Amino acid sequence: MAQDNLQARSQGNFPLDDPTQSLMHDHNYVRQLMQHYLGTQDKNVWQQAGPQICEALQMHTTLEEAVFYPRVQELDPALVEKCQDDHQVADELLVQLQELQPGEPAYNALMQQLQDCVIAHIEVEEQQLFPAVRNAGIDLQELALRMQAYEANLISTQAASARGAQPGSGLH
Ligand SMILES: [Fe+2]
Ligand SMILES: [Fe+2]
Repeated sequence: MAQDNLQARSQGNFPLDDPTQSLMHDHNYVRQLMQHYLGTQDKNVWQQAGPQICEALQMHTTLEEAVFYPRVQELDPALVEKCQDDHQVADELLVQLQELQPGEPAYNALMQQLQDCVIAHIEVEEQQLFPAVRNAGIDLQELALRMQAYEANLISTQAASARGAQPGSGLH
């Protein structure tokens, strides 16, 4: 598949008039990385894309759970609860993936399950939750700034712990 648009969002970038645009950018990135991973037999691609998928997904779900879901929960509590349950399933798959090496048959089977889970979840967010957020009349700018601040903090914490664990290595 074409690799031209396989790019992570620039970190900390949330449009003030609609921060869900950034979440959708993350969705596209993870979805494409998963297609890339599952559509190849190339070990180098597996080794590169596997950890990228896990890292991007963890950053994204952490941000949604810490800042986005709590702020929008009142709009549709049942829908947000469903989204949190989806994250739980994805988290469990991510834990199992971390025990394995990219390219192993068991890893690839788990990645297929993760893709099924993530694609269905993205559809719920993009078709139901995000439109509700955009139409609710809440302060989207304030939400965007909170997401930005949280992500900046998350990145600096992770960079510090990565430096501590492995001198010389940081976020790519
Ligand atoms: Fe999402
Ligand atoms: Fe989500």
